[in-house]
Amino acid sequence: GAASGGPVDGMKFDIVKPNTEDAVVIPDGYEQKVVIAWGDPVLPGAPEFDFENQTADAQSKQFGFNNDFAGLIPIDGQPGHYYLVVNQEYTTEAHMFRGFVEKKPTEEQARTSMAAHGITVLEVTESDKDGSLTPVVGSRNRRITASTPFRLTGPAAGTDLVKTSADRSGNTIAGTIANCSGGLTPWGTMLSGEENYNNYFSNASKVTDKAAAGHLERYGFDDDADYHQWGQYETRFDLAQEPNEANRFGYVVEVDPTDPQSTPLKHSALGRLKHESATIHVVKEGPQAGTVVAYTGDDEKFEYIYKFVSSRKIKEGDKRANMGILTEGTLYVASFSSDKPVTTDDAAGSGTWHKLLTTNADGSAVSHIKGMTAAEVAVFTREAADKAGATKMDRPEDIEPHPVTGKVYCALTNNDDRGVDGEEGPTAANPRKENKNGQILEMTDDHAGESFTWDLLLVCGDPKAADTYFGGFDKSQVSPISCPDNVAFDPHGNLWISTDGNALESNDGLFAVALEGDRRGETKQFLTVPAKAETCGPIIQDKRVIVCVQHPGEDDDATPDKPASHWPDGGDSQPRPAVVAVWRSGGGQIGV
Ligand code: FEO
Ligand code: CA
Ligand code: CA
Ligand code: CA
Repeated sequence: GAASGGPVDGMKFDIVKPNTEDAVVIPDGYEQKVVIAWGDPVLPGAPEFDFENQTADAQSKQFGFNNDFAGLIPIDGQPGHYYLVVNQEYTTEAHMFRGFVEKKPTEEQARTSMAAHGITVLEVTESDKDGSLTPVVGSRNRRITASTPFRLTGPAAGTDLVKTSADRSGNTIAGTIANCSGGLTPWGTMLSGEENYNNYFSNASKVTDKAAAGHLERYGFDDDADYHQWGQYETRFDLAQEPNEANRFGYVVEVDPTDPQSTPLKHSALGRLKHESATIHVVKEGPQAGTVVAYTGDDEKFEYIYKFVSSRKIKEGDKRANMGILTEGTLYVASFSSDKPVTTDDAAGSGTWHKLLTTNADGSAVSHIKGMTAAEVAVFTREAADKAGATKMDRPEDIEPHPVTGKVYCALTNNDDRGVDGEEGPTAANPRKENKNGQILEMTDDHAGESFTWDLLLVCGDPKAADTYFGGFDKSQVSPISCPDNVAFDPHGNLWISTDGNALESNDGLFAVALEGDRRGETKQFLTVPAKAETCGPIIQDKRVIVCVQHPGEDDDATPDKPASHWPDGGDSQPRPAVVAVWRSGGGQIGV
């Protein structure tokens, strides 16, 4: 459409153009600083990072590898102090350790890798001079790793599906791994999704029980996927010895950052999939007011979008009660339809949420899927969704409700298998064959109900290509965007999108997109991340933007003797994943 005037508030910055710099490139008039990087001290007594002398003990007290989600939670009674909560998704041992032999980690390397996973809670303070944030290495901080005890809640807890020789009760799980994206709850906790946990288990091929092998296959477990090889040193990661350990990962986890002694939770009422976050909407009006809705995606080609609707209402100021909200309610999966022919130009339609599982206040649960028990639906959720008639999507990554409009935005990152080799072809909400660039789905959801309408806000790619769409905005005026992954909102209500895997010959980046008015669909790149990195975890505040730079220098040919990036330390240093703060020189609001 014809747009008048200039960009909306929040988007008044100079576009950062596509590039391949080994740097975080930001608009003119902005400044940046690393907040914390892999290996920096988190817990008191942690040594300084020393690439050449890594130990599991040191890593368990230092910032982990491959930061993905970031959230900032104000610390009560201390203005300018925050808990920075970050998840540390995965490790690439070949880049972490000099001379690493593929699939043959030493025990110290394997245990260092375990300690580099999980979640970090870090106190940070604001500068009164600029937008930088400074870590406080103190008693508020916490490293949750692949070994930290979690309590399993919901219909899977205590069932035979999750019992192991180390946990005969099926209630206590050691560690969280493969945590991707996340969300903050209104009651002050952090949610994070366990995603590619199939990459941590050996000997899937040795599981001979037909049903168990089928479940493993549906979740992508196979011998080749296990590049970490932790099973060489911890038998629980060897499926031949502990087949149920696989069923203990794949949940939405919840952490209370204010209590470093608290036991974090894994919520099986939200199902087991390759969760990419969970994010919360609270119903504001009507008889359902106070109902909590958690949205979550399953990031793999041809997987589904889910939501959980609580039966308990939020209780203002009662964190203990609210941390039980995700244990009582109904899990749904989405199907999408449309009256229009498949199109990339203003695609839209309606949809239905299909009931999978209801968990009751007394802990009992009801399966809505014929032939599956409630525990089976909680643990083999993908199989339940297959039976429910859900719509196969182009890799549902981060999904998040808009804090003001309540519309739900989901990044469908790409799916180059759509329509090839007998795979399902284009559908209304996934309109492109061999989709290399992804799309942004916008849903107007009856949050506590079972129906919604939807449209595609963006069909990403080179704006010059006919099969791209930018909310109807003039495509000659937008930044190219490819492979959307995380979504967030700025204080003006604009959508911000970070990307992973840019297929357009540029580094990945962070983009702002106008949602309302005659500039709807305008897309501007705010920053790019260094070579071979992915942009994650964006937080868009009034006066600060925070991004997680994940896996700088992650190139198959790179080794510590031949790094593909020297960010952030420069010179001939090794690349380190890190969190970066960006602000306007001299202060002032972002993009205003
Ligand atoms: Fe870890 Fe789906 O990105
Ligand atoms: Ca992601
Ligand atoms: Ca998000
Ligand atoms: Ca991704």
